[in-house]
Amino acid sequence: MASGGTSHNLPLALLLCLALSSSVGGEAARRFWIENDTFMKDGAPFQIVGGDVHYFRIVPEYWKDRLLRAKALGLNTIQTYVPWNLHEPEPQRWEFKGFADIESYLRLAQELDMLVMLRIGPYICGEWDLGGFPPWLLTIEPALKLRSSDSTYLSLVERWWGALLPKVAPLLYNNGGPIIMVQIENEFGSFGDDKNYLHYLVQLARRYLGNNVVLYTTDGGAMGNLKNGSIPQDDVFTAVDFETGSNPWPIFRLQKKYNLPGKSAPLSSEFYTGWLTHWGESIATTDATSTAKALKTILCRNASAVLYMAHGGTNFGFYNGANTGQDESNYKADLTSYDYDAPIKEHGDVHNSKYKALRRVIHECTGSPLHPLPSDIEKANYGLVKLQKVASLFDIIDNISDPLKGAVSEHPLYMEQIGQMFGFLLYMSEYQGKLSSSVLSIPKVHDRAQVFLSCSTDGVRNRRYAGVIERWSSKTLEIPNLRCSSNISLYILVENMGRVNYGPYIFDRKGILSPIQIDGITLRHWKMYPLTFNSLDNLPKIQLITQMPDVRASKVSIIHGHSEKKLQESSFYSNEPEFYEGHFHIDSESEIKDTFISFRGWNKGVAFVNNFNIGRFWPARGPQCALYVPAPILRPGDNTIVIFELHGPNPEVTVNSSRSRFHVRSKTVRMAARGVQSTVQWIWSPRPVISTLVWCRAAIQRCKVPLRFAPLSAMISRARFIL
Ligand SMILES: *[C@@H]1O[C@H](CO)[C@@H](O)[C@H](O)[C@H]1NC(C)=O
Ligand SMILES: *[C@@H]1O[C@H](CO)[C@@H](O)[C@H](O)[C@H]1NC(C)=O
Ligand SMILES: *[C@@H]1O[C@H](CO)[C@@H](O)[C@H](O)[C@H]1NC(C)=O
Ligand SMILES: *[C@@H]1O[C@H](CO)[C@@H](O)[C@H](O)[C@H]1NC(C)=O
Ligand SMILES: *[C@@H]1O[C@H](CO)[C@@H](O)[C@H](O)[C@H]1NC(C)=O
Ligand SMILES: *[C@@H]1O[C@H](CO)[C@@H](O)[C@H](O)[C@H]1NC(C)=O
Repeated sequence: MASGGTSHNLPLALLLCLALSSSVGGEAARRFWIENDTFMKDGAPFQIVGGDVHYFRIVPEYWKDRLLRAKALGLNTIQTYVPWNLHEPEPQRWEFKGFADIESYLRLAQELDMLVMLRIGPYICGEWDLGGFPPWLLTIEPALKLRSSDSTYLSLVERWWGALLPKVAPLLYNNGGPIIMVQIENEFGSFGDDKNYLHYLVQLARRYLGNNVVLYTTDGGAMGNLKNGSIPQDDVFTAVDFETGSNPWPIFRLQKKYNLPGKSAPLSSEFYTGWLTHWGESIATTDATSTAKALKTILCRNASAVLYMAHGGTNFGFYNGANTGQDESNYKADLTSYDYDAPIKEHGDVHNSKYKALRRVIHECTGSPLHPLPSDIEKANYGLVKLQKVASLFDIIDNISDPLKGAVSEHPLYMEQIGQMFGFLLYMSEYQGKLSSSVLSIPKVHDRAQVFLSCSTDGVRNRRYAGVIERWSSKTLEIPNLRCSSNISLYILVENMGRVNYGPYIFDRKGILSPIQIDGITLRHWKMYPLTFNSLDNLPKIQLITQMPDVRASKVSIIHGHSEKKLQESSFYSNEPEFYEGHFHIDSESEIKDTFISFRGWNKGVAFVNNFNIGRFWPARGPQCALYVPAPILRPGDNTIVIFELHGPNPEVTVNSSRSRFHVRSKTVRMAARGVQSTVQWIWSPRPVISTLVWCRAAIQRCKVPLRFAPLSAMISRARFIL
């Protein structure tokens, strides 16, 4: 009994000792924990009023601006994911600078007196390419089982966290930093039930972060999700997310069942302020009043909430994610804008009803001071910019395709297999075209293929456009054969439109994933030309284009009305992927302001401003018709716009501060857009010219339709954990 007594007393003594040391001196008193179903900070109850603001969706020069706007909303905490793919773009090449300078971002939050909830993944979802996983994971054989106890997968997570977590540890709240909690995985309960995997992640995190850190999981507020995704037995706090407008209190009571006694501080760790939008949908908007009312039912009863998003930002580069339906071919890519209808708009504006309503509720419920409303950021019109065609993709393919990565193979290789992670991949082979037409079949294309033909003896310079095959529509294409004395060369340009980031189909390799057949015969001997342009802050390949003297000499002038029309017609016939370049001048530093580029009348492609990839445009599909150009990427003097347009170009773009950037799909418009898809197959008939004109007009109208607000119910029906 006596020995039992001492072993009982020893931990007690230790505890006392710890309690004493933690109350002595300012440093040691810094502590965050959960007790009595309440968050506790430095010995007092603490209510988290947080919001997601993702450093990787904001140019670093604007981090401070956006955090200050979040603070003026009344937030005391910032939540952010950490995307593995940004920080380890190639195996063991670590990136922690520029957009990836997470330590500076976290320190900045602290300087501004804000706390941080850090979501380290390794899977993050977040409408971000492959849910944050680096795409090179998809090349490992045997294929990894992502988000599982697969030992190879775990060893790579271990290596990644071995690089990340030593940077995080000194920034934990208990160690003097801003981070109060660290999230493990993301909504795992809607994916699987591999508790060993979660258990492994917890042990790994604690190895670097210690046992005192508050770890948490986030799952949909329903029994099945919470059961599969929560790990209270590992002393990991369970938080919930649910549809805005649901009664939170029954869900907080359910949350309690998946937490240890006394450890269930009610927290909605993703309180949706808006919703994501895919290309081809109406822009998702939610009502300010009902969103504020829903937040009130949480905050005014002392529960905690994190706004998802407080500020959405932009999917610059090629980092947007995608979703699927029941079937993996039911693919829908996310927009470049991640505005999310959040209170702080994509371009930082806060003078809107949602920001004001949420700010009022936060002030009312928490008694936090009402900060002055920040002023909106000034924007500038730089007017109309005339663009000139610089080159057709096919004319310069050898110059811009990375020769180191070019590949030759019996069967088509997928993108990641040849070491390419983002962008476009051109496949080339040849066949004997004896019939008057042939049927091309590509059962699996990720995500969108444009098909071109030429007589092999003529080479690529005499090609003709044959049509498109898209992951979500047809798998076959009828191609009228050219009359060639030689073989026919087949060129297939495939766009990676962003990897699936949610659900069972996240193992989303890109390029062509199946054999390719012509009239039932499998084509062999493929050559592949990778076209990356993926980097967020440098694009050497594009620089190469603008520096090529021979290419510049052959520029087509398209400034005057007459030649403009001619170009539109001829380019419709060729339907060529082409590069365009334009310049605008900014007189002085003080005239550099945020702006937008409107893509009215263009079709689909990617745009670069001063070699910075501002993202994809697709006004023919909508609803986003303009791309955000943050001031920090502009400069006094000459500014360059380069556009890679896949289809019919427009001779000019407008660089304007106009905010009517979105429009809502209407029935007539959709029919017009369908018309385009069929016309591209009539390429050799005289009709397309007329169709082009109709389509161009339709596209312009589409971008002029004013913004309409979708009802809240429309958003709820697409709630995250139902998706
Ligand atoms: C826990 O909270 C309840 C009411 O919320 C309060 O009565 C009780 O004193 C608290 N206990 C501790 C140990 O703080
Ligand atoms: C939770 O896991 C079980 C298997 O243990 C599975 O049958 C069920 O579908 C999962 N629930 C959800 C919501 O994924
Ligand atoms: C919220 O907390 C404050 C201070 O801890 C307390 O005075 C108030 O009664 C609480 N309100 C509710 C609805 O629990
Ligand atoms: C582009 O490629 C062609 C063919 O490989 C080559 O002859 C030409 O010199 C290249 N031009 C530049 C500017 O590199
Ligand atoms: C024409 O294409 C076939 C494959 O369809 C190939 O076997 C043959 O070698 C090609 N002919 C020439 C002259 O390249
Ligand atoms: C630029 O935007 C302003 C409104 O901000 C508008 O009046 C003007 O017509 C636009 N210019 C062009 C060329 O679209």
